[in-house]
Amino acid sequence: MASDTDREASSSPERAADTDTGTGTDSDTSTESSADRATDATDELPLPPYPPNLGPPSLHVFRQMRDVLAFSERAHRTNDVFRTKLIGQGDAVHLAHPEHAKRVFLTDREAFRKSGDFSIAFGDGLLTVEGEEWSQQRAALRPLFTRESVMGYADGITEQVRRRTERWTDGDRFDLQREFTRMTLDVLFATVLGRELALDGDERLRNAAENLHEWFVPTSNLLPPWIPTPSRRRFAAAKSTLREEADRLLDERRADPPTDPAEATDLLSLLVGLRETGSTSSAMLTDERLRDQVVTILFAGHDTTTTSLTFAFWALANHPDLKARFHEEVDELDGQPTAADVADLDVTDRLVTETLRLFPPVYALPRKTTREVVVDGYRVPRDSRVILEIRRIQRDSRFFDAPNDFRPSRWTSDLRRELHDFAYAPFGGGPRVCIGREFALLEAKLALATIGREYDLYWLGENTTAGEPPVSPEMTLRMEGGQDFLVTER
Ligand code: HEM
Repeated sequence: MASDTDREASSSPERAADTDTGTGTDSDTSTESSADRATDATDELPLPPYPPNLGPPSLHVFRQMRDVLAFSERAHRTNDVFRTKLIGQGDAVHLAHPEHAKRVFLTDREAFRKSGDFSIAFGDGLLTVEGEEWSQQRAALRPLFTRESVMGYADGITEQVRRRTERWTDGDRFDLQREFTRMTLDVLFATVLGRELALDGDERLRNAAENLHEWFVPTSNLLPPWIPTPSRRRFAAAKSTLREEADRLLDERRADPPTDPAEATDLLSLLVGLRETGSTSSAMLTDERLRDQVVTILFAGHDTTTTSLTFAFWALANHPDLKARFHEEVDELDGQPTAADVADLDVTDRLVTETLRLFPPVYALPRKTTREVVVDGYRVPRDSRVILEIRRIQRDSRFFDAPNDFRPSRWTSDLRRELHDFAYAPFGGGPRVCIGREFALLEAKLALATIGREYDLYWLGENTTAGEPPVSPEMTLRMEGGQDFLVTER
């Protein structure tokens, strides 16, 4: 395994993700890094070690399908670069060191393009497009996601959280992840999409938004994209429902377009405003693109915030000291939390930071190489599937003491200063860092504080032998379904 010397490149989690300067284009990266010029590179990428009694390496793919996280953990113990076998699609190369993340996100990003899976699934929205089109889309959407704009959503977020949670009563037991799935969709629609959902209705839309992750379930993901697995069929139906909804919302906005897109406070008004005023390339504002954009935002901003909140409440329920400090902090607030309060919520901030370290919703990121690259002496050919192992990187003992322990107190200013820039990257990094990062962090903190002031949540699910909740690694890392919490009023 690589040595520890990389720790000298230091930054806080905030700084690592703060590279969204608005100036990043695909043309300002080098075409070949010095690492790629290694003359003694080898083509023999290691396969993960496996116990001989489990059969030959050709059976790896089935074990990998069964437990994708344990598989990469075992592999990472021996190497930062390893290979897995896929059915009908060649091998995948896994990269699990912060220096690899730095190359993928920043220094060699032209060599690691988004994988085609995303475009097949989501068309040409911000998450998938590349090059000039990406620069234009990013610049067009940025005004909605600046810190200042996002702060403007704070009251709307709190209102949606309260609207749903004030119906909770003492002694309720339910699957919190399911409840948060509904709540985060309420929030996303009411703020970014500018339409309030019915609390107990809009089921078709809710099911559709939930089924967007079906494209990426591991059993399907390891198979070629043309095989119509049941989960892929569910995904297709979900996508078509959401595109219909996008059309409906677009028609509404077109009937009353904003005269100045800069005044728009929701995505649809912004996009329609840009089109009406001709202020952005018309190619990115076709109906097709606008639909893709809506589905992309729903996909990127829904499941991710749901699972972060669920894992944060699991952590509170399983760490009584932390819960006591958290309650003390939120009880000191003078009424419902506001945008201005968030900066002072130190315990809540560390809780969210640590939750995203141990349970990063985007636990692995797929890429495709556009040219041959050499990583730690291994030659990775052009057109290889690459998987950047965010979760493995964030659980590496070379960068975090007791890396598997849930320990928010680790996030001291010293750690934030000394940590490798890319050892903590739940929101990705470089110019394509998550555009919704500020929104997601604000939503998580406001939801935690709003709920924490009113309710105490107890975990009724079983922890695994590792002392963690059972997880289900789909496109996002989710808690395994059906894990109940008990609600008590405070
Ligand atoms: C805890 C919540 C979230 C996490 C952990 C998260 C994580 C990420 C990550 C890792 C990426 C980079 C993907 C890559 O490099 O391939 C990303 C990109 C993106 N995220 Fe998020 N995200 C979250 C919430 C949100 C929200 C709330 C929104 C929108 C409302 C959003 C919209 C996007 C979009 C549009 C991109 C693509 C940006 C680009 O390529 O320029 N995300 N997110």
